[in-house]
Amino acid sequence: MKDAALDGVDRITAKRLRVEYLTDPLGIDVVRPRLGWNPESGRRGAEQSAYRIVVAGSPEKLGLGEGDLWDSGKVDSGESQHIRYAGVGLTSGRQAYWKVMVWDEAGEPGTWSEAASWTMGLLGRDEWDGFWIGRKNDRKPTREKPNPVVYLRRSFRLRGGIRRATVYATALGVYRLYANGLAAGPQLFAPEWTDYHARVQYQTYDVTALLREGDNALAAELGHGWYTGYIGMFGYQKYGMDPAFLLQLNVEYEDGGVERISTDESWRVSWGPIVASDLQMGETYDARLELPRWKEADCSEDGAWSEPDRLFDYRGRIVAQMTPPIRATEERSAAGVRMLDEDRLIVDAGQNLTGWLRVSLRGKSGESYTLKYAEAIGGSGEIYTDNLRLASQTDVFILGEDGPKTFETTFTCHGFRYVEISGAGAGRLAPGDIFVIVVRSALEETGRLETSDPDLNRLLDNIRWTQRSNFMGVPTDCPQRDERHGWTGDAQIFARTAAYNMDVSAFFAKWLTDLTDAQQPTGAFTDFAPFIFGPKTEFDNDFTYTHIGSAGWADAPPMIGWLLYETYGDTDVLRRCYPAFRRWIDYNEQLYPSGIRRDAPQYGDWLSVDERPFEETKAEFDWLVSHHSTTPYDVFATAYWVHGTKLMERIALAIGENEDAERYRALHARAQEAFLREFVSSEGIVKGDTQTAYAMALGMELLPESMRRSAADRLAAKIEGAGGMATTGFHGTKYLLNALCDYGYEELAFRLVLRREYPSWLYSVLQGATTIWERWDGWTEERGFQNASMNSLCHYAFGSVGEWLYRHVGGIDAVSSSPGFRRVRIRPRPKGGLTSASCEYDSLHGCVRTEWTARDGRFELRLRIPAGVTAVVYVPCENGGQVKESGIPCGEELAMKESGDPCGEELAMKESGVLAKAREAIRALGREDDCVRFLVGSGEYFFESLYETMGGNNG
Ligand code: BGC
Repeated sequence: MKDAALDGVDRITAKRLRVEYLTDPLGIDVVRPRLGWNPESGRRGAEQSAYRIVVAGSPEKLGLGEGDLWDSGKVDSGESQHIRYAGVGLTSGRQAYWKVMVWDEAGEPGTWSEAASWTMGLLGRDEWDGFWIGRKNDRKPTREKPNPVVYLRRSFRLRGGIRRATVYATALGVYRLYANGLAAGPQLFAPEWTDYHARVQYQTYDVTALLREGDNALAAELGHGWYTGYIGMFGYQKYGMDPAFLLQLNVEYEDGGVERISTDESWRVSWGPIVASDLQMGETYDARLELPRWKEADCSEDGAWSEPDRLFDYRGRIVAQMTPPIRATEERSAAGVRMLDEDRLIVDAGQNLTGWLRVSLRGKSGESYTLKYAEAIGGSGEIYTDNLRLASQTDVFILGEDGPKTFETTFTCHGFRYVEISGAGAGRLAPGDIFVIVVRSALEETGRLETSDPDLNRLLDNIRWTQRSNFMGVPTDCPQRDERHGWTGDAQIFARTAAYNMDVSAFFAKWLTDLTDAQQPTGAFTDFAPFIFGPKTEFDNDFTYTHIGSAGWADAPPMIGWLLYETYGDTDVLRRCYPAFRRWIDYNEQLYPSGIRRDAPQYGDWLSVDERPFEETKAEFDWLVSHHSTTPYDVFATAYWVHGTKLMERIALAIGENEDAERYRALHARAQEAFLREFVSSEGIVKGDTQTAYAMALGMELLPESMRRSAADRLAAKIEGAGGMATTGFHGTKYLLNALCDYGYEELAFRLVLRREYPSWLYSVLQGATTIWERWDGWTEERGFQNASMNSLCHYAFGSVGEWLYRHVGGIDAVSSSPGFRRVRIRPRPKGGLTSASCEYDSLHGCVRTEWTARDGRFELRLRIPAGVTAVVYVPCENGGQVKESGIPCGEELAMKESGDPCGEELAMKESGVLAKAREAIRALGREDDCVRFLVGSGEYFFESLYETMGGNNG
């Protein structure tokens, strides 16, 4: 458990230096970026008391300690995040190198951090010299045959003495860039998905090492992606007809000279081997059409290529990509290969995931191989593709010459576990010919939790894999069928779990931009973002207004903003989005002046389980319920309204909009009153009387104190009445377990989590699921697969249980009054028969770690708290029992000894900065329920107590 990296390190040092949450980013366009770091020290009670930041224009200057861009001087402050750069104004392309020195709580200076850096992007539109190029194609793409990829290249000479070469590039579509034959960066599907009506992102590449004196070449493949490809359920070309490419290369010479190359008529364009390409449909690669050496300077063929078409100027905003890019994060061997016959086999990736296969194929020129991707195997032993709906997820590789050749796709992505490969002799492919490529937005994985229950561990893994598979530039609902949208409801439900698993700071901040870009002139947020405007679809479904403003979905933006505030203490994002949030509230206030949000159910508590025969529910609530959601829609929607007004009050307060906060407080009071009047009987029965109705009423704080206990009792009774099962849909599930735990039904919550019969989380695990299913009954013994029209096996909403597991089993939680995990609550619960767990969370302020065991009446907890963070630790302990820390008795005894000490005044103690010496880093705070509480500063701790795991709070 001892952290080797910290051993012997007593002097406090800044680690994990980041700029706008990114490590050494290239090409940012925030002119006064926020810097952050984690002070680290192995000592207990260590915290930063001051810092000094030095930012220099070159590594040499930084080495000499010359802050020619900025020297903050010594600043007395414990803050180590969101420190705004306040130096010389940064212009386009500027390089900045920086380091930090921090002082500890005793005023002792630490050592300088390692150097970090960032560069600025192109800050003005006029710095793009060129124009958008591509190749027009009149052909209408079809599902069977998407349109081909465009190949672009440009050769040029450079003189000697290149100091630095930077490419800025973007596309309406997707592109891959090469410099002298080599990939310019790891990016896949750049520039990723944004609301192209409003903005497109550009990427910055440092190509200094790839270019040379003499002949050089830049080359790009230009595909369709979301811009011209098939998106959602809507078909092709929802933003434009042809993909377009824009590039700017800036070369700086040692002698101060500069040279600029950009996309213009001097480029060359051609069609090539990718003859059909689409994100959802797949790709066809005909190796006979390969363009030899097309990425190289000495390509002799480009004489036959044409001049590119000059395409329309783009009138949206061109902004820097400031999120970790989509890229291949893992390469795995196939877990199994099953030959169906001579010419057909099925590859098992061993895991449902997003990506593709890389395969070495043998055969004769012109022979083709077809790869069909699927999530499951059907009853017949063949791949099961019905649930893909219209997304064909099929790739075709055609050999160009006899002999083996390695193929992989470029601009398509598949949600799959199994792949059927067919083609002459395909059945004889050896496992060594096949690799599985995992692709995702490469967010840093920040959470790890492992317990004594292997099935629960698999569930945790399934949640992680579902997130990996769906965080693809935007948080999508599913990666496989013709949908793959940034559905807002799913994302807000899962967001907190997502934030434990991965660093979502930059990712969700970018998506909030998509959400606000999608906001309608009325103020309505949309149900997914980026949103697709346009005429009726082939489903005769006018998405442009029916999928707008839905309760639980369109309510997401302020919820995501709040998540970023709570998890990362980010007020910038809140401030930026606040006007949009305000318009959303105004819109609803105007639409529903009575406070009751009543309209036809769009989705409601999506995919709930019937608690009684649906006909009965329907007879009682008529149009307010549907097969997919049995909690009446007016209750559901108004609940979100009450919750949303409260949230707005909190947001306004967090950013100092105090007058608004007053207004929202009053609005919330009215909304809550309306909810109670309309939907809650004097006996505390909530209209609909479903588990979800109570879970939401409790979790969203809709009920007065006096009614909460009975609501919790009713919720528990309903669960027990249903045979100990949850019937909640997406939304109820998010609140269910916390609602139970908050009111003494902890054992029941653990029983639900560890339940193995349908419906339950572990039911899918026992059926072999490797990702979270969209529905509780995605597959059952009695029926097999659910209706294929909506049965994704990789949907994260029900994975929202992850946050509860991190909190209650891992025991790591934020103290909500202290955003950014500056103060944490450590409260692991050894319940449900679990005998151990270990958990780590790399919070904004550093890594928090717990490791506990509960056996033979003894409870042990090893804990690590990062420098500058305080934790309130709840150690389960028998009544009258004693807690030891590192072998020394403390706990109640210490609490008594210290009575009169300001142990209740936790915050005062923190602020006074007295957490210096080892013993002083722990204060006992007395008992609460079955725990003794301690306040601790940073460092490592080992608590022991006597605790019978079946004792304590039984609910
Ligand atoms: C998606 C959902 C989404 C929903 C709206 C579905 O097709 O997959 O997860 O939230 O539509 O009800």
